Amino acid sequence: MSASISSARVRQRRIAAAKGSDHTRRAAVKILRTPAAMSRQAGRWLRAGKKIVLVPTMGALHAGHLALMDRARRAVGPRGVVVVSIFVNPLQFGPREDLSRYPRPLARDLRGCREHAADAVFLPSAETMYAPDRSVQIDETQLSATLCGRSRPGHFGGVCTVVAKLFNLVRPTAAVFGMKDFQQLAIIRRLVRDLDFPLTLIAHPTVREADGLALSSRNAYLDPAQRAQAPALRRALLAAATLARGASERNAGTLRQRMLETLAAEAPLARVDYAEVVDAETLQSLERVGGADGRAALLALAVFFGSTRLIDNELLTPTDSRAAATRRAAENASRVCYLNEADL
Ligand code: PAJ
Repeated sequence: MSASISSARVRQRRIAAAKGSDHTRRAAVKILRTPAAMSRQAGRWLRAGKKIVLVPTMGALHAGHLALMDRARRAVGPRGVVVVSIFVNPLQFGPREDLSRYPRPLARDLRGCREHAADAVFLPSAETMYAPDRSVQIDETQLSATLCGRSRPGHFGGVCTVVAKLFNLVRPTAAVFGMKDFQQLAIIRRLVRDLDFPLTLIAHPTVREADGLALSSRNAYLDPAQRAQAPALRRALLAAATLARGASERNAGTLRQRMLETLAAEAPLARVDYAEVVDAETLQSLERVGGADGRAALLALAVFFGSTRLIDNELLTPTDSRAAATRRAAENASRVCYLNEADL
């Protein structure tokens, strides 16, 4: 190494140290555009003893995605590697869904990844991800039949297939997913368990606008009147949750009714796709919540504003301490998914 290069390096390191962060060192995000390049790079990191945490996305990044990246960094530490994948996966869009109009603000997305200290962005094309005669697909067969799976046939098969491919290519020790897409998270938890992927799933709470609307790239499709009514999803969930928590209402039908009444009163432009009360693990409909079995229940909503479909949910965890302990023990025993902020 020549003297001038080495002194330039020293100077760079000093500047980075003066700024008091790893940020400068991380300023250049590695961009990997093909599965082969991704796989080769993952191999190099693993051979160097590095741990990798993956954040899968479809881009159009908002503060929810960025929070997932920060969570990944906390999990893997400053020496570990955070990989963000940005891939609008055609397999998970139905024929009448928004694949072609899905936003793709690439320069902005890359800036977000850089500012949140991602080490690499995996940015494959559909052509490199899927052979024209591809013939293997992964389908989850139980949890996918309910909630969003009913109105989006084939969607979760597309999600499972691409997520399994991402796990194989990136070989992460952990992957971060948002609880906003609770059903997706529950299904991926099954994918990891049933196909023995050697990784931990980290669930991140939903990030919201100040008025309670869950952040989503689809919020951009709402017109002003729809946008004004969209926070009613959150209020409907909270109204039912308050009934369950405050007034100890156990009847799932009554909770469902409360969600529907709130939506009818506060969001006349909304067309309800579903309003459900389900077991948080099996996603099967419940008649009663808060039993002594320690299982959490999920209040889940999907609503159309015009052709834009929004989802949100609220988890009802048992408040009774014995029941809560049972739930924690079950979570620990599965060693697959931490529904809280537990570290690796
Ligand atoms: P996408 O909709 O881009 O979401 C990527 C990740 O961000 C998911 O884990 C999702 O749950 C999380 N997320 C979205 N909005 C959030 C919010 N408001 N708060 C917290 N997390 C949020 O989900 C997908 O992409 C795809 O199905 C994918 C898993 C990438 C497979 O193609």
